[in-house]
Amino acid sequence: MKRVLLTGATGYIGSHVAVELTMAGYDVIGVDNFSNSTPKVLGGIEKIIGKRIDFMEVDCTDYAAFEKVFEKYPDIEAAIHFAAYKAVGESVAKPVMYYRNNLDSLVNLIELMTLKGKGANIVFSSSATVYGQPADDELPIRESTPLQPATSPYGRTKQIAEEILQDCVKAYPNLNATALRYFNPIGAHPTAHIGELPNGVPNNLVPFITQTAAGIRECLSVFGNDYNTPDGSCIRDYIYVVDLAKAHVKAVEKMLREGIRWNVFNLGTGKGLSVLELVNAFIKATGVQLNYKIAGRRQGDVEQCWADPAKANRELGWSADTPIEEVLLSAWRWQESLK
Ligand code: UD1
Repeated sequence: MKRVLLTGATGYIGSHVAVELTMAGYDVIGVDNFSNSTPKVLGGIEKIIGKRIDFMEVDCTDYAAFEKVFEKYPDIEAAIHFAAYKAVGESVAKPVMYYRNNLDSLVNLIELMTLKGKGANIVFSSSATVYGQPADDELPIRESTPLQPATSPYGRTKQIAEEILQDCVKAYPNLNATALRYFNPIGAHPTAHIGELPNGVPNNLVPFITQTAAGIRECLSVFGNDYNTPDGSCIRDYIYVVDLAKAHVKAVEKMLREGIRWNVFNLGTGKGLSVLELVNAFIKATGVQLNYKIAGRRQGDVEQCWADPAKANRELGWSADTPIEEVLLSAWRWQESLK
């Protein structure tokens, strides 16, 4: 069996990928420093796959500690790098913290993979934020859509990380890398054993919706209804986290099989939904009422952004087609399981 290293393995997306990789027959070694997750997630993964994944508590910015993972597991052939800070607003206030954490961990990973890995195949967890607000005639967004200057240090870490990977692929003949640009991942595992665990007040829409429906928050604010969209609220491409996780398995398979040096994929459904459409889909899917009001625009929000996933559909043999009601129901069941 091939061994895949997951950094950020107990995070929202990492935990779902740990499940899908194991079910596809890979050996996983997960690392995380629990800066934005808890050891309980390992129990959730175990409940789904019926065994404990190999795991080490490691901060990937600590080279010496990270090196020990490669000493213990010399059979690592590929890595998926999730470990990173991801709060846009916080990154504006604490850019050094973001650059240090998100970039040091990547540089350490590249060095260790190229020097100590059995193979040096890296899948990088990137974001549609690298595209900024594309012009109207550039929607849906393709991989060839020009990148815009990042609107936050968080977004810039994703852009810089992709550039670092490209430089390193040129320099190190054994390194291959693939960047996966996620649109808006939502939902939870259908078993409700793992899901998103936001710290404090959620920034993202779906956790705010489920917490409001559960009575933890009083009212959802819909940030803006005066955008140039059919109902005035912003449009995003919401992708089910389990569909997203399956794309990672396909991306790893492709790298190991074809050895493509550098590759980029947009991971989305190809369909845009407005905030109000999502709110209504949640009410319809769950039958739960949701208190919401129209509020002012949130600073820094892009108006509309959805993917052209044709390249991933074609080259990975993958598509994200779980119906939105099913996805929102999974998010709600997860919220209920946290009681
Ligand atoms: C944001 C980040 C993106 C990051 C992603 C993952 C920005 C500009 N983008 O995406 O870089 O990769 O999170 O964390 O910050 N909304 C409400 N009410 C709420 C919360 C959200 O109306 O309480 C709306 C937003 O205005 C937006 C949509 O819901 O239109 C989605 O918001 P969110 O879930 O925060 O994701 P993004 O802003 O798309």
